[in-house]
Amino acid sequence: MTASSFSCPELHPSLEHLAFLVGEWQGLGVVGYPTITEARYEQEVSFSHDGRPFLAYLSKTWLIDEDGARIRPTGTEAGFWRPGKQPRDVEVMLCHPTGIVEIYVGEVVFHKIELTSEVVARTETAKDVKGFHRLYGLVEGDLAYAIDMAAMGQPLQAHLSARLTKIR
Ligand code: HEM
Repeated sequence: MTASSFSCPELHPSLEHLAFLVGEWQGLGVVGYPTITEARYEQEVSFSHDGRPFLAYLSKTWLIDEDGARIRPTGTEAGFWRPGKQPRDVEVMLCHPTGIVEIYVGEVVFHKIELTSEVVARTETAKDVKGFHRLYGLVEGDLAYAIDMAAMGQPLQAHLSARLTKIR
């Protein structure tokens, strides 16, 4: 293996509008919905690339207690963020271990990304989810987001919000 095998590939030019996401992020969030009890969570997110025109995405979360200690793992999602048709467009595909798959389309304006679910598919045993809206943005160098969900017979409303700090 040559030394160049370890070199960091250049970000594909079509991902320039998403470049600010690349790296590893960690932080805290709040989960709520009319059908569940509000709780706090810790999250680790990674956006990586290998020179090809997509970002690989992985998010892991843990419910935490009042002292911030992890209680148990909760929402996990993995997928890919791709450039869309227009230079500012983005397409996102996410997969959840709860039997749900989502496709989002959205737009990047400076350091703000707005995504709307175009397709939500679920397995026979998955919960009844209908649609999502996600807003991501850089706030003082942190990655903040809010996710709204239409599910369990409820209209689109807040499920998650968090603020993550770049750790790598
Ligand atoms: C940061 C990621 C997420 C976290 C921390 C999180 C956390 C939670 C928690 C703690 C619950 C309460 C039930 C339980 O303990 O499992 C819950 C319920 C639920 N979540 Fe999430 N969630 C996340 C992402 C998502 C996503 C992406 C979806 C959809 C694809 C989703 C759909 C739901 C649904 C349908 C329920 C069930 C509500 C009910 O049973 O009435 N969640 N979530």
